[in-house]
Amino acid sequence: MLRHTINEVREQIKKWKKEGLTVGLVPTMGALHAGHLSLIKKSVEKCDRTVVSVFVNPIQFCPGEDLDKYPRTLEADEKLCSDAGVDIVFAPSPKEMYGEGHILSNDFLTYVIPPYFYVDKLCGKSRVGHFDGVCTVVNKLFNIVQPDYAFFGQKDAQQLIIIKKMVKDLNIPVEIIPCPIVREESGLALSSRNKYLSDEDKKEALALSKILFNIKACYDKGITDVKALTETAYSFLNEHHALEYLEFRDKENLEEKTVADDNTQVFIALKIGDVRLIDNILLG
Ligand code: PAJ
Repeated sequence: MLRHTINEVREQIKKWKKEGLTVGLVPTMGALHAGHLSLIKKSVEKCDRTVVSVFVNPIQFCPGEDLDKYPRTLEADEKLCSDAGVDIVFAPSPKEMYGEGHILSNDFLTYVIPPYFYVDKLCGKSRVGHFDGVCTVVNKLFNIVQPDYAFFGQKDAQQLIIIKKMVKDLNIPVEIIPCPIVREESGLALSSRNKYLSDEDKKEALALSKILFNIKACYDKGITDVKALTETAYSFLNEHHALEYLEFRDKENLEEKTVADDNTQVFIALKIGDVRLIDNILLG
C-alpha cells in the first residue's frame, strides 16, 4: 500500500481504470490528524479506490518557513490510512517529484501560476509564491493519479478556492469535494502545525475560533457592518497574539466585503510566537 515512485502508482491506476473503478485522491503533507482523516473517510465512502499522497512539498514553502522542521510521521500516517481503508499511500521523495537540481526555482521548473487576484491577499500576501507551489504540486498529483474526485478541507479556504479555479480554468477532469473544518472540542481547528504549540500557546490559539464564532454570533443577531464586526475581535487579542489579517471576503471569488452577507467568509491569520495559524468561517 505504501508507494514511493510515480511509475508504481501509474501502473496500479491503469489497472483500476481498466476495471472501471472510481479513484479518489486526498493530497496531504502528512502528520495526519482527525482533520485529514475526515477527508480520507469521505473518499473511501465515495470512491472504489482511495489514494492518499503524503508529500512535504518543498516548493510551497517560502524562505525562512518551517520546511525542515515540518513534522514527518510516515509510519503512523500509513497505519492511520490502512485502518481507514486507503488503497495507496503515495509518499514520493522531492527528487522523485522534481528531479535533481534546481528544484526551488521557476527558472528550471514548469509552474502552474494561479491568477494574481486570488493570491495577492490573505495568506498569499505574506507567503509569496506559496500558491504557485501548491497549484504546481496538486496539478502534478492530478496528472499522476488521475482521480475522479479529489478531497480538500475548508480549513485552507483560500487554497480550496484557488484549486477550484485552477481546475475550472485548465479543464482538469476531476471533481473537487470540499470538506468541513474539523475542530477540537475547544474550537481550535486541527492542524499539523498545532504540534508546535505548548499547552500555554494552545490556550492562546483559541483566540482564532473565539473571534470567528463571536463574529458569526453578531452577524446572526443582525450586525452586517464589517467595521463593526471587525471591532468585536479586539477584546480576544492580547500581547501574545500578532494578528496578520482578519478579512471579510466573498466565498467564491475572494472580493472584499464592506457589508457582510450569507456569501461572506471571514478569514483570520494569527501568529503566536513563531507559529502562524489560520482559520475561517462562513457567515451564511
Ligand atoms: P495539509 O496541510 O497536510 O492538508 C491536507 C488537506 O487536509 C487539505 O485539504 C487541508 O485543508 C485538510 N485539512 C487540514 N486540517 C483540516 C481540518 N482541521 N479540517 C478539515 N480539513 C483539514 O494543504 C496541504 O496539506 C497542502 O497544501 C497540499 C494541498 C497537500 C499540497 O501540498
